[in-house]
Order: sequence, then structure tokens, then C-alpha cells
Amino acid sequence: MICDNISVNAKGHLTFAGYDTTDLAQKYGTPLYLMDEDKIREHIREYKTAFEKFFPQGSMPEFASKSFSCKQIYRIMAEEQMNIDVVSCGEIYTAATAGFPMERSFFHGNNKSDGDIRFAINNKVGFFVADSMDEICAISQIAKQNGITQKILLRVTPGIDTHTHQKISTGNVDSKFGIAISTGQAIEAVKEVLKTENISLCGFHCHIGSQIFESEPFKTASSIMLEFIKQVKTELNYTAEMLNLGGGFGVRYLESQPEISYTEKIREVATAINEQCSALGIKVPKIAMEPGRSIVADAGMTLYTVGSVKEITGYKNYISVDGGMTDNPRYTLYEAPYTVMLASRANDKADFVATIAGRCCESGDIIQENVNLPKPKRNEILAVLTTGAYNYSMASNYNRVPRPPVVMLNKNGDYVAVKRETFEDICSLDV
Ligand code: LLP
Repeated sequence: MICDNISVNAKGHLTFAGYDTTDLAQKYGTPLYLMDEDKIREHIREYKTAFEKFFPQGSMPEFASKSFSCKQIYRIMAEEQMNIDVVSCGEIYTAATAGFPMERSFFHGNNKSDGDIRFAINNKVGFFVADSMDEICAISQIAKQNGITQKILLRVTPGIDTHTHQKISTGNVDSKFGIAISTGQAIEAVKEVLKTENISLCGFHCHIGSQIFESEPFKTASSIMLEFIKQVKTELNYTAEMLNLGGGFGVRYLESQPEISYTEKIREVATAINEQCSALGIKVPKIAMEPGRSIVADAGMTLYTVGSVKEITGYKNYISVDGGMTDNPRYTLYEAPYTVMLASRANDKADFVATIAGRCCESGDIIQENVNLPKPKRNEILAVLTTGAYNYSMASNYNRVPRPPVVMLNKNGDYVAVKRETFEDICSLDV
């Protein structure tokens, strides 16, 4: 199995976090998002322990909450004393109303409006990850009006291409995010920031991309960032206290993908950082990273009920399910790979190759192509594994399909973290 929270019981039913998935489908209905709370906590603790062990005191991972955002996840993050990254007022509102201590939040985004900045300051966001000089001027003005000094990190682009999917690669010079180091604009920006009132520059941020399995791109990025930190120290006599390397460690969606140890990767990055800092003669900054996917992806699973099974003689087979691009747009957007299993008969021989299609009126509404399964019967339960990241958070109401509920599983029981959307919910804003 691709993750140790997945198994098959004596009835031949797929289990997740120790629960029979067909029982959960019966209890809550489908489509259904499941989240393994203990797995989420296990990942957070692994990151935190590795950070404590390998990086200087005060280093901390942050959960990139765009990967999965709802009140309960922020409560879990608060309990685990994890920092978070937020990218919109919607995420800030959700975290703040869940009681998350907002001084531990980092506010990202390439285009924060004045309204966003005010909202974040009113909600006592700890740090802004500032993306442009325009934004810094706006933060300065609004911070002044509020009589505060706002802590910021400056987001810069190290200029590296991580060879992940183009839509999720962000560290290149021509990215819409950050200020480029190689053009000289980043150092100019630092010069300006240091003169700007009501702003306290705490360090630098970069993010190179997502679904990265190697430590190499992170080492390259940190090397460029440390050179920059050294340059800023030499030219402007400014010492960066914090270096945030962004998110992006990869997750195993298929058996063929590697199983990586985040502790080991963090150790490798830390070794490279320590060596380079001593070579450059600079103090090792506090390190931050913002994992999203690698905290929640394999803590998730989606259950569907099989509808029509269509065999187009001489062409292909389709298994249609009661969800699709509305609850998981990732194949439609990125041709993202997923492992699919027949939860009702997980041990039966897989000898039926089919495309898993969603229920939307759109040919592109596909969950996965060329999946090999036991041929399902109508009303059997199908499971798509590793859906904890960027599924619920990217879900939509296309075709006015209600979004599925999120059910959390832990050692003590199962509970609803997000309710199933109703037709009334969908119409609630219509006038
Ligand atoms: N930090 C920043 C600044 C980011 O932009 C991202 C992801 C992360 C952290 C978290 O990266 P992760 O650890 O989750 O790889 N919707 C796409 C992913 C977009 C990622 C955007 N930024 C997908 O479904 O694959």
C-alpha cells in the first residue's frame, strides 16, 4: 500500500486509519472526504522534531493551509503549536475564528489589496510575506495608521527551475511571485525597505515549487539565498534573522513514486546550509519551511459510489462516480496521478482497465485514466487515495454539485469536520 494508514480487512474491504471505508460510506454517504487526524499530527511532529534537531533555535515549519483549510485543521495546528501560512482573508478569517493564535501566522500573496492588508493587521497576523515594493508601501501606510510596526519577510526569487509542473513552479525569475535576485531588484528593494517606516524586516522568503522529491533543489535555493543574505550584510549591513525556504516536498500518489523521509531531507538541507554559512562567515539564520501537501495529502482519501460502468467495444471503458472535478479538479488541471481502488472488493483480481469519470457535464471531468481494477458493479464503493491536499481546498460547485463533507478519523472515533453542503447552501447567496 502507498501509505501505512491503508489496509484491507477480512471482508476484503479497504480500511483507512483502521476504519472500514464501506462502513463510513454507508454512515456518511458519498462522495466523502476522509482525513486521518493522527497521520496529520504525525507529519507535523516529524517536521517539528527535525527542525528542532537540525536547525538553529527558533526555526519552525509552517503549515501551508491553502492545501487544506477549515476551522478544524487550524485547531489541530494550534494544539500542535504549529505555525501556519495563510494566503487570503478567507483563510485568515477561518483561522482566527477557529481561535488560532494569529501572531503565529504568515500572510502570503502576490497581490494583497489595501483591504486585505487592513484585515490582516486587524486580525493581528504575525508576519506579512511581502511580495513587491507596492505592497510594502501600502503595509507601511496602514501600519502607521494603526500605530504599529509590522513584521515582514521579503519574498525574493532565487531564479531556479524545479522541473515540476509549470503551473506549480514558482522560483523562476519571471514568476509572478517575489522580487528577482539576479536582476538586482531584490537588493534595491531591501535598501528601500530598511528606510521604510513602520516596517520591521525579519528576513527573506523563497518558494521554488511543489511535489519535489529531492533535497537538491532546496540546497540550490538555500545556497542562492545565503549568498544574497551575505551580500545584503556586506552592502547594507543588514543581518537577516530568518530564512524561509517555502514548501514543496513531494508526496507518494503512486506505488512507483519514491517513499521519502522528510527528516532525512531536512537533515540534508540543514547540512548544506550549515556548511555554506560557515564558508560565507555568516550566522545560520532561523529556518522556516511551509509544507502543505506533505502534511495532509496522504492523510486524505475520497470515497465515491460507482454509477454507470460503460464498455465502448474496441475503445475504452468508463467507470462513472458520483463526484469528480468538483471535489478533485487535479487531473483536469494538472493530469495529476492518483491510485484508485475498489473499496468494496479490494483483494479481488484487478483485470478491468477503465477511465474514472466524474458526473459533471464536461468530457474533461476525469479523475484518472487507465486504472486497473476489479470490474465494479453499480453501487459499489470506489476509493481515490492521497486526496488530503488541494482537493477539498480546490473544490467547486460547478454544475451546482454540493461539496462533500470532511470526516476526520482518529483513534477515538470519527467525526464531521466540515458538513455536507446542501442545495439550500448552494442557493443561500442567490437573491
Ligand atoms: N509556500 C508557498 C509560498 C506556496 O506557494 C506553496 C504552494 C506552499 C508553500 C506549499 O507547497 P506544498 O508543500 O503543498 O507543495 N494546487 C496545486 C499546488 C499549488 C501549490 C501552490 N503553492 C496542486 O494541486 O498541486
